Amino acid sequence: MHAISLVKTIHAILLERIQKGEWVIDATLGKGQDTAFLVAAVGEAGRVFGFDIQAESLHHVQQRLRSSVLTLYQANHADLLQHLPTVAHGNIRACMFNLGYLPGGNQHIITHATSTLRALSAACQVLMPDGIVTIIAYPGHPGGAEECGAVTEFCQQLAREEFTVEIIVSHSTNPNAPVGFVLKKCGQPLRQHSINR
Ligand SMILES: C[S@@+](CC[C@H](N)C(=O)[O-])C[C@H]1O[C@@H](n2cnc3c(N)ncnc32)[C@H](O)[C@@H]1O
Repeated sequence: MHAISLVKTIHAILLERIQKGEWVIDATLGKGQDTAFLVAAVGEAGRVFGFDIQAESLHHVQQRLRSSVLTLYQANHADLLQHLPTVAHGNIRACMFNLGYLPGGNQHIITHATSTLRALSAACQVLMPDGIVTIIAYPGHPGGAEECGAVTEFCQQLAREEFTVEIIVSHSTNPNAPVGFVLKKCGQPLRQHSINR
């Protein structure tokens, strides 16, 4: 699947879940295309928390979207739990990851498997029941295939009672085609069972 149509597919999946007024995260702001989508999806009563390690990216997003629903962090998404206000923990409807490098920017500043997995784990923790995490991974750049493999393993190891996982792969034979991942958290919080011994 072509990168643009995969982005559109992911946006459509997110729109089925996100309601006006809800709280969401853009874990890789880049040039703000996904951020703009999320701002529109949550509306004026919602909130969008955005992360990117590059000042250039935050500058792009601030210029593009002068929105009061946005809270931006120039920070590693691996540290998401420290930055996100405590009140948002467990109240996030959706978290988007669009991995790789800033389009038109420095192609050496990329997401890396280790920090991506920490960030994914944090994103899964802060989701509300019925929340959703989406990831687009690009195997075509140096380190991209390794990262894509690590994300696939992460998804396969998620507890089946807590998450459903959908992997969207290209019909083409191009090994560099982007891969989409959709993680949906189950609707009911898991009950703790205590066993009397
Ligand atoms: C493919 S771009 C994101 C595209 C963006 N969602 C858009 O719609 O334009 C990937 C972004 O991830 C950022 N990034 C790389 N490592 C990161 C990290 N550890 N934490 C947060 N952002 C990171 C890069 O700076 C880059 O801007």
